[in-house]
Amino acid sequence: MVRNIGIVIVSIIIIAIVLDAIVSILSRPQAGRKACQDAGIPYKTVIAHRGASYWAPEETYFSYSIAKNVGADYLEMDVQRTKDDVIIVFHDDTLNRITNVAEVFPGRENDPINSFTIAELKRLDVGKWFNTSFPERSRYSYSGTQILTLDEVIDIATSDKGLYPLYIETKSPKNYPGIEEQLVHILQTRGYIAKNENKINAPYAPVIFQSFEIDSLLKLQKLAPQVPRIYLIDEDMVNQKGWDTLIAEAKQAQCAGIGPSGYLGWPWITGKAHRNGLLVHIYTVNKKWQYRLLDWFGADGFFTDRCELLMEYYVKPHKKPFKEILANID
Ligand code: G3P
Ligand code: CA
Repeated sequence: MVRNIGIVIVSIIIIAIVLDAIVSILSRPQAGRKACQDAGIPYKTVIAHRGASYWAPEETYFSYSIAKNVGADYLEMDVQRTKDDVIIVFHDDTLNRITNVAEVFPGRENDPINSFTIAELKRLDVGKWFNTSFPERSRYSYSGTQILTLDEVIDIATSDKGLYPLYIETKSPKNYPGIEEQLVHILQTRGYIAKNENKINAPYAPVIFQSFEIDSLLKLQKLAPQVPRIYLIDEDMVNQKGWDTLIAEAKQAQCAGIGPSGYLGWPWITGKAHRNGLLVHIYTVNKKWQYRLLDWFGADGFFTDRCELLMEYYVKPHKKPFKEILANID
C-alpha cells in the first residue's frame, strides 16, 4: 500500500516536471525577458489598466493616484479627442456607460465622444456610476469626479519628482486623424519624449504606445521611433488575419511586443512572439490564479485593474501600504 502511494507520488512529480519542461520549451520565457530588457521595460510588468480601476472610477484622478501611490510600473490609458481638438483619456466610444450624460445632455447619450467639446465633457460626473455599481468600494469623493485631459493625467504622473511611466493606447484612431502627431507633440512638450530620436534618461521607458490599429503604430513609429510600441490583439483579429500575419505586422512596425487578450495567452502563442523577439503583455487579468496560469504560459506582464494584487503576486513591494492609500480617500 505504502509502496503504491510512493509510486503515485513519484509519477505525479515526473508528469509535473515533464509538463513544466514542455510549457517552457513552447513559451521560451528567457526570450521574453530579453525582449523586455531590449525595450527598456521592467520584467515582469505591472500595468495599471485604466489606473487602479478595481478600486476607483476608471481613468480618473483617483484610479491613477492609487496606482501611482502603490507603485505600478505603468499607468494605462486610452486617448481620444474632443470636438474642439483636446486629447482626453476615456475608454468608450460613447458616454452612457460611466457618466450622467443622460441627465446633463438628454438625447445625446449615444453620440460619439468627438461630438462633445471639452467644456461639455467637464460638466459630466464620471464617478457616481462607480459608487452605484460597487457600493462596497464606493467613496464619497468619487462622486463628481471629472473626465481628464491627457495633460491632466500627465500632471498627476509628474506631481512628484520625475516622469511616472505611461502606457498610452490610441483608441479608435481612425476617428481622430492626426491624433498621433498631437499625442507625440504633447509628450515632447511635457518631457516624456525627446525632440530628437534620443531616449529619455530614465530607468525604464517612460512611455509605451499601444493600439489595436497597426496603421496607428506605424505612424507612431515614424514620429517617435524610440518609444516602444505594443500591438494589441483580440480574437476577431486572430480569426481575420491569423497569427503569422499579426506577428509579421508587429515586426513591420518594429513593435517591442504584442498585447493579446487573456484567452489568447497559450504557451505556443507567447513562444511564437518570443521567438520573434516580441514581449507579451496580456490584458485584462484580475485574479491570482489567472496571473499564475498565464505567467506559467509565458506572459511577460499584465494589464490589470488590480495592480496591488499583481504586485503581490510578482513579489514587488508596495510603495506605500495599500490600506493606508485607500484610507486616505474620503
Ligand atoms: O489596452 C489594453 C487593454 O486595455 C485593451 O482593452 O478595451 O480595456 O482598452 P481595453
Ligand atoms: Ca486600453
